[in-house]
Amino acid sequence: MAAEGVKVLKAVAELEKFRYELTDFDYGGARYLRTGEVLPEGAVDQLRGFDAIYLGAVGHPDVPPGVLEKQLLLDLRFQLDQYINLRPVKLFPGVETPLAGKGPDDIDFVVVRENTEDLYCGVGGFLKKGTPDEVATQAAVYTRKGCERAIRWAFEFTRKRNNPKKMLTLVAKTNVLTYGHDLWWRTFQDVAAEYPDVKADYNHVDACCMWMVKNPEYYDVIVTTNMFGDIITDLGGILQGGMGVAAGANINPDPGGVSMFEPMGGSAPKYTGQNVINPIAAINAMSMLLDQVGQPAAAARVMNAIQHVTGSKMQGQAAGRMGYGTREVGDLVVESLTG
Ligand code: IPM
Ligand code: MG
Repeated sequence: MAAEGVKVLKAVAELEKFRYELTDFDYGGARYLRTGEVLPEGAVDQLRGFDAIYLGAVGHPDVPPGVLEKQLLLDLRFQLDQYINLRPVKLFPGVETPLAGKGPDDIDFVVVRENTEDLYCGVGGFLKKGTPDEVATQAAVYTRKGCERAIRWAFEFTRKRNNPKKMLTLVAKTNVLTYGHDLWWRTFQDVAAEYPDVKADYNHVDACCMWMVKNPEYYDVIVTTNMFGDIITDLGGILQGGMGVAAGANINPDPGGVSMFEPMGGSAPKYTGQNVINPIAAINAMSMLLDQVGQPAAAARVMNAIQHVTGSKMQGQAAGRMGYGTREVGDLVVESLTG
């Protein structure tokens, strides 16, 4: 399905008259099974030389769970310091949501997930492993620098998005996580003072889950911690129609930073090569990539084309139920770029 994103890139580059160069890397399950390594030596440094990374399906049924997640996705996020995980939750026209009575006007918010800290740091250990007295710890690590840069980026983003609500909601658990999320809370208040035009709002994460289902129209932009962000963006993903459409960006916004764009669902090996997977998520990720590399007109063109195709062509978003094959949906998006 990444091939469909590349197809759309080629077409939109011709229309918007910009040039690009592509380099393919075969990092993923198949290579790991062949060579025993996920990212070869020097791979990350090589990737630092690119403007952006477009991550295709990397999974393979014979690779044990956790290997690619850890050694590819999380390692790249950490090593390239992609400290923002941007996940728009937008219901495209014609796409079915499990929420009764809600439509595209109601489901349109963005989650900014901190992407380098929290329980994802791998800090912890075992004591008396394998015995009845076993103890395991897994520490949530939060730094002032880490939460401040995510919060600041989210305020900037909310300001630029300029939704009539212009509201940034911090989602955390300050009533229980009285150290780590106290740091988040205080930092949020400090940074909010610099953005008087943006409404600073707060929800506990459990309440947020209820609101996302009951009143998704409440939200404009959410900023949250890595672990909570992981969980609520799967909830968000299904609100917007699921794996076939949801995409995310791992962004390093610093000068020279390299960002990575991915369909949210990962790969579906049982469908590989059958021309049945929905490429909209991958094309959506391409639109986010174009925006990030300074081609906002191309990004908007792709986004409009996606919405035209979901709204007036596709029968559904599940694999095999689209009314078209993977390549045909890609072609429809390409045809709609001029619409
Ligand atoms: C995601 C995924 C990853 C995460 C997994 C695959 C490690 O769930 O991108 O949300 O937990 O961040
Ligand atoms: Mg996740």
